[in-house]
Amino acid sequence: MTNRVRRLDLFDGHTAGEDPLRRSIQKHYTEVARREKACCGEDGSGASAETPSGRLYTDDQLKLVPSDSVAASAGCGNPTAFAEIRPGDTVVDLGSGGGIDCFLAARAVGPTGNVIGMDMTAAMVELARKNAVKLGLENVAFRLAQIETIPLPAESVDVIMSNCVINLSSHKEAVFTDAFRVLKPGGKIFISDMVLIGDLPKEVAEDPVMWSCCVGGAIRKERYLEMVRAAGFAEITTISETPSPAPDGAAWAGKVLSLSFRATRPA
Ligand SMILES: C[S@@+](CC[C@H](N)C(=O)[O-])C[C@H]1O[C@@H](n2cnc3c(N)ncnc32)[C@H](O)[C@@H]1O
Repeated sequence: MTNRVRRLDLFDGHTAGEDPLRRSIQKHYTEVARREKACCGEDGSGASAETPSGRLYTDDQLKLVPSDSVAASAGCGNPTAFAEIRPGDTVVDLGSGGGIDCFLAARAVGPTGNVIGMDMTAAMVELARKNAVKLGLENVAFRLAQIETIPLPAESVDVIMSNCVINLSSHKEAVFTDAFRVLKPGGKIFISDMVLIGDLPKEVAEDPVMWSCCVGGAIRKERYLEMVRAAGFAEITTISETPSPAPDGAAWAGKVLSLSFRATRPA
C-alpha cells in the first residue's frame, strides 16, 4: 500500500466535522491560539526551521505586529520577506493562524490592496481579527475556511502565500489545484512548508499529534513539488531549504526540511 493511500485512509472527508484527524489539528491550534500550548518546535515536540538568530522575522517586522500575533506565530518561514507583493495587490494567506504574515502583507499592499487570511480554526480567526482591530488595519479580513476549497472566485487573486500549513492537509493536491484556480494568470504563490528528505516511520506518519506538529503530514520534497507542477504552476524556484531541529533520538531527526519556494500561474 502506498503512503498516499495509507494517509488518505486516516480521513473520512473534507469537512472538519466528520474528519477525526482534522478535528485533532483544530484542537491543537485552538490551544496554540489560546496560548495553552506551544507550536511547533518551540518546546522541541515538532518541526520548525533552524535560523542563525533563532527567529524567523526581523526586528523591524516584529515591531509592526501585536505581541499575541507573534506569540501565536507557528510558521517555518517568512513568506513576506521573499513574496513580491505590490501596492494594490489582492493577497491570500492559506492557514493564516494569528495573522502575522497578513499584517506584514497589509503594509505592502497599502490602502488600495487587500489581504485575506483563511484558517479552519475558529480560535485562530478570532485572534487574528482582534489583532487586526488593534492595528487599525482596514485592508485585512480573516475568514473561517478550509484551504482545499478556497471560498473565492476564479482568477481573483494576485498573490497567495502560506506558512507551514499545507503539510497539515491530507488533500495537498486539492490545495494546489484550488490555489491555481483563484490566482489570476501571471499570479504567484510564495510558500514555506515542511517537506521530507527521508521516509518517516509508520508510527510517526500515522500519529495525529505528529501531524499537528507539522511532521506526520509532511511528504517527500520531490512529490510535493510534483503536485505543484501538476496543478499547472511553472517557474517553480526554491528560495531556501532549512533543516528542522529534532529532539534527541526522535525517529524523524534529519528527515524534515523547511522549504521556501515560489511559483507562477502562467499568463
Ligand atoms: C503551523 S500553523 C501556521 C499558522 C500561520 N501560517 C503562521 O505562520 O503562524 C497552521 C495553521 O493552519 C491552519 N490549518 C491547518 N490545516 C488547515 C486547512 N486544511 N484549512 C485551513 N486551515 C488549516 C491551522 O488551524 C493553523 O492555524
